[in-house]
Amino acid sequence: MIRVDRADAVAVLTVDRQEAMNALDVATLAELRDRLRALADDEETRVVILTGAGEKAFVAGADIKYMSGLGVDEAKAWGALGHGVGRLLETMPKPTIAAVNGFALGGGCELALACDIRYAASSAKLGQPEVNLGIIPGWGGTQRLARVCGLGIAKELIFTGRLVDADEALRIGLVNGVHDPVLDRARETAALLAAKSRLALRAMKELANRALGGEHARNLEAESDVFGELFAGEDAREGLVAFVERREAKFVGR
Ligand code: CAA
Repeated sequence: MIRVDRADAVAVLTVDRQEAMNALDVATLAELRDRLRALADDEETRVVILTGAGEKAFVAGADIKYMSGLGVDEAKAWGALGHGVGRLLETMPKPTIAAVNGFALGGGCELALACDIRYAASSAKLGQPEVNLGIIPGWGGTQRLARVCGLGIAKELIFTGRLVDADEALRIGLVNGVHDPVLDRARETAALLAAKSRLALRAMKELANRALGGEHARNLEAESDVFGELFAGEDAREGLVAFVERREAKFVGR
């Protein structure tokens, strides 16, 4: 099951299937998708954190027992379901943070990669071990790992299936920080982001997502347009005037 805890504009989604190291079966993954869809549209929720229940695992991947019986069409549908969840994390108009509290393997590492920011507990282990099962990363790992860590590191990790510990993950840029307890660190950043202009955050996320694809010149033009358009809103006026008046800005999200 997926637990949802909401407080102060921050939603924490916890994958809770501890008997299987929080590996995702169809019911749990579909529930995660539904929860993310609802939170993407929820005005009250400004930041979403994804984590795993217990102390051992974030998510130990897609459910291998389930996959062991799949044919091609079912496997395609299963891949598409995972991709849908990844796209929600990657494109919803608010920041998403992965609090990696243990094993983040295969599909678990891929969902963390789809988040905007990743923090790890010092006990975390991350990787794409699909090659050891005779398959490939199927929820975005062949693409997003390269975007986050660079193509050379990504190829080594997906070809070998080698797992990395938290220190190495930090060194190769796979996580933004290492902290115990990791959820505290994620909540701290979430609180910081929840106080900022949601319009500015939404615009930055959309533009930053274009940074590694498409045509550079067009992406710069898009930034230029959006930068100007934001000046029609109350938040830009408030932020700029508050600085001039030497007071704290209070953003309303308009
Ligand atoms: N699917 C289904 N069950 C899983 C699972 C998974 N991905 N990972 C762990 N489990 C289950 C185990 O089968 C075990 O259940 P039983 O007690 O019923 O046998 C239980 O969780 C506890 O696991 P272990 O006894 O193996 O615990 P451990 O501490 O010895 O090892 C582990 C932990 C290193 C995470 C190990 O369980 C493991 O290697 N798991 C598989 C990791 C993996 O290969 N993930 C990638 C899956 S493929 C994928 O995700 C495809 C994709 O891109 C979408």
